[in-house]
Amino acid sequence: MRYFLECTQCGERYESDYGSQICAKCDGILEVKYSKKIPKVEKISSFWDLESVMPEGSYKHFWLGNTPSISSTSSKSLYLKLEFMNPTHSFKDRGSAIEVAKAREYGFRDVVCASTGNMAYSISYYAKLYGLKAKVFISDDANSDKIKDIKSVGDADVEKVNGDFTKAQAMAINYSKKHGSFLCGDYCYRKEGQKSIAYEICASNPEIKNIIVPVGNATLLSATYKALRELKDSGSIKHIPKLIGVQSDMCKPLVVAFSKGSQVRYCKPMTKADGIAVGYPTYGDQALSALKNTSGTAVAVTESSLAKEQYTFLRDYGLVAELASVSVIAAYKLLQPKGQSVAVITGSNV
Ligand code: F0G
Repeated sequence: MRYFLECTQCGERYESDYGSQICAKCDGILEVKYSKKIPKVEKISSFWDLESVMPEGSYKHFWLGNTPSISSTSSKSLYLKLEFMNPTHSFKDRGSAIEVAKAREYGFRDVVCASTGNMAYSISYYAKLYGLKAKVFISDDANSDKIKDIKSVGDADVEKVNGDFTKAQAMAINYSKKHGSFLCGDYCYRKEGQKSIAYEICASNPEIKNIIVPVGNATLLSATYKALRELKDSGSIKHIPKLIGVQSDMCKPLVVAFSKGSQVRYCKPMTKADGIAVGYPTYGDQALSALKNTSGTAVAVTESSLAKEQYTFLRDYGLVAELASVSVIAAYKLLQPKGQSVAVITGSNV
């Protein structure tokens, strides 16, 4: 789809050949806007069937996405979308496949990102596929096995930061400015790729009532909302499901802001669930409106429930899921929302 970019902060508009995801005027994050009405996607048999609802680009059609859903053992009304079936075992590949292709298209030779682990693993992999060099800044709470994975799957230069994701993010931004690398991460092109999860969910269940996702930078939550609005506008779904965003009670900036009706404020991440150890979500403001506009909610689950659900997941399905991912099952049990729900099991890198 033909598109342009618009700054979420100052409204500045950029054409699609603008080779950055950040506003040159105010450093705000950009949003992809389409010039035409989003078409209805009739059948999704591969991730790339969704290219028609994504920014036009020179994508190599590597296999990814179209992940399976399984019924939950805990409730007949809940099913689980297994995002760890993606190439680097997390939902991140959907965004990286779009974002890294864009870096290549704009003529960059290097990409840089900040991460708590999975994003860097995924970026490192796609950078290798596209022949680009990757530099990744990893927060000090990332688990050491994820760091090994990043190094084994690609040739990324890994720098462990003395600080959390927010510090790593600032370092990645500085690095991109200083070295002219394409800044990847939780920005607009990734968001477009992440929309594909909601497209797949609604294709198999257009009547779904609740979508439950973990929240770190809230890219997945805000991308899901964007996709749901597109699906409604194109007539693919009649009603927009409720969105439920899940954090740990040891790192819950979105939950606090949602319950107080205030702005999102930084909090120091203390959770062991590294995927959601983000103290200041980049898409916090968009996530708050997504929750409000879908009559959804944000909920915090305990650290002990994460450990328990990880074990139950292994026992019930014979599959491994990471702590951030099983947060959605703990949240389902806590809230017991009415109607059919899907919980997105985002990754299995432990
Ligand atoms: N689940 C997993 C497994 C993750 O790795 C992440 C984010 C999330 C959920 C949260 O998604 O940021 O879109 O709200 N991981 C980032 C990373 C922070 O660097 O890998 P989000």
